[in-house]
Amino acid sequence: MNLLLDEIARATARLAEAGVASPRADAEELAAAVHGVKRSELHTVADAAFDARYWEGIARREAGEPLQHITGRAFFRYLELRVGPGVFVPRPETEVMAGWAIDTLRAMDVNDPLVVDLGTGSAAIALSIAQEAPRARVHAVEKDPKAFVHATRNIDALDERGRVRLHLDDFATALAELDGTVDLVISNPPYIPMSEWEYVPPDVRDHDPADALWGGGDDGLDAIRAVERTARRLLRPGGYVAVEHSDLQGNEVYWVFAEEHGWRDVRNRRDLTDRDRFVTARLAAD
Ligand SMILES: C[S@@+](CC[C@H](N)C(=O)[O-])C[C@H]1O[C@@H](n2cnc3c(N)ncnc32)[C@H](O)[C@@H]1O
Repeated sequence: MNLLLDEIARATARLAEAGVASPRADAEELAAAVHGVKRSELHTVADAAFDARYWEGIARREAGEPLQHITGRAFFRYLELRVGPGVFVPRPETEVMAGWAIDTLRAMDVNDPLVVDLGTGSAAIALSIAQEAPRARVHAVEKDPKAFVHATRNIDALDERGRVRLHLDDFATALAELDGTVDLVISNPPYIPMSEWEYVPPDVRDHDPADALWGGGDDGLDAIRAVERTARRLLRPGGYVAVEHSDLQGNEVYWVFAEEHGWRDVRNRRDLTDRDRFVTARLAAD
C-alpha cells in the first residue's frame, strides 16, 4: 500500500470523526502544505511517512482551527496568499465578485482604470484585480492593523507595490482626495447580523477577526450602507460598484442602492452555488 495515501486515509477518518465538513480535502491540503506543494501536485511527493508536523496539523484541525490558519496559506483565483490569525481567510464566493470586477474593467473604455477595494483584509480582491486587469491601479483600504500587516506582506510577495497602494484607514472617510475620480469600487465588508452570533460556526466565530464579521450592526447592513455612501462619493459619473452580502440579504442590499439617489442598473448577482451573493450598480452619468 502507498504509505502517503494510507496516512491521508487515516487522517481523513479522524477529521470525519471530528465533524470536519470536507475531511478528505483538508487531509490532502495539510499533506500538500507540509511537503511544500499544491494539492494537485501531491502525487509528485515521494512515498514516505509524514513527520510530526502533519499529525500536529490534523490535531489542530480536529480541534476546530481553520485549515488556512494551520497551513498559513489560502488560494484565491490565481493567487496563493499568506494568511493566519488576525486576517480574514478569503472565501470562494468572493472570487465570483472579483471576476465580475475584472471583466468589467477589461471591457471599460478607460486607459488606466482606477479601482478602490474597501476592507481589503489579505488584499485578495485588490491583488487579483492588479494581476488580471493589468492596466488597473488599485487603492486598498483596511482599518485593522493586524490585517494591514498581512495585506502588506501579500502585496510585497507579489511585487505589486507599484500597482496596489494600501491605506490604513476607515473606509467611511478614506481617500477623500480621489472623490469623483474612481472607475470601480469593490467591497466584501462585514455583514453578519449581530442577532445571528450564536448560529455562526465556532471555527468562523472564534478565528476570523471580529472586524471582518461584525461591522454590520444588528441587521448586518451598517457597513454595506457605509460602502454605498463611500462609493457614491468616490465614483466618477458612470463608475461601477460591487458589494458582497450574505445569501439572505440580496433584497435588502438591492434597496440600499435602489433607494438612494444616483444609482442605475442595480443588479443582484449570484455565486457559484447559485445563491444571491453581491449587488452591482452604476453611478448615473447625468
Ligand atoms: C469580510 S472581510 C473581507 C476581506 C477581504 N476583502 C476578502 O474578501 O477576503 C472585511 C474586512 O474589512 C475590514 N473592515 C471592516 N470595517 C472597516 C472599515 N470601517 N474601514 C476599513 N476596513 C474595514 C475588516 O477589518 C476586514 O479585513
